[in-house]
Amino acid sequence: MISEAANRYILVHPSTVSDIMANIIILNAAARKNGNTAALVEAFMKGAKESGNTVKEFYLQTMTIRGCLACMGCTRNAEPCAQKDEMTQIYEAFKDCDTVVMSSPVYFYGVAGPLKTTVDRLFAVFSKYGYEACQRDCALLMTSDDPEFDEPLDWYRTFTNNMGWNNLGEVLGSGRVQEAHDLGASIGH
Ligand SMILES: Cc1cc2nc3c(=O)[nH]c(=O)nc-3n(C[C@H](O)[C@H](O)[C@H](O)COP(=O)(O)O)c2cc1C
Repeated sequence: MISEAANRYILVHPSTVSDIMANIIILNAAARKNGNTAALVEAFMKGAKESGNTVKEFYLQTMTIRGCLACMGCTRNAEPCAQKDEMTQIYEAFKDCDTVVMSSPVYFYGVAGPLKTTVDRLFAVFSKYGYEACQRDCALLMTSDDPEFDEPLDWYRTFTNNMGWNNLGEVLGSGRVQEAHDLGASIGH
């Protein structure tokens, strides 16, 4: 018979603990490496790592990720996409991740181009593996000069809702580093 103390030990066994930690990818579309958005990303990553999560950031501005060609290769034999550019790294990371964080400054009432382009390219994984296999948690980190996020927020919520993703939170506004940290720290628990 297992004693109560031993039972408690089993509950906190490291492999059980690691099961609740998340594998997070950040799709960061900020152009400035030390700008307002980068500050949110850094704080989020710090919080997420403190909670034992694994975090990988993709700095989209310096990656070669071309726009979707609508060739529909993903509905045939492409694996998962006919274009072989640096999106391949994100396809690989997406397969194993639990959480997708989108991060962007507001550019002309929308998200910055590299984020939209990258999300368009995710069409290939939905198409190839099906919606069930592509269910993820998600979060948004976004900055702007004006406290006005309606259009990009609407885009983010429309996309994630329609994909069936579970929105863990949104940090909207430059300087909200504590909020970003706390959102990161809350993941996986
Ligand atoms: C091309 C461009 C377009 C922008 N469009 C908007 C906008 O529509 N609304 C807004 O409030 N700020 C706008 N901004 C300001 C940025 O969103 C804001 O300064 C943001 O915090 C910059 O992020 P970063 O420091 O990570 O580069 C724009 C900036 C640039 C460079």
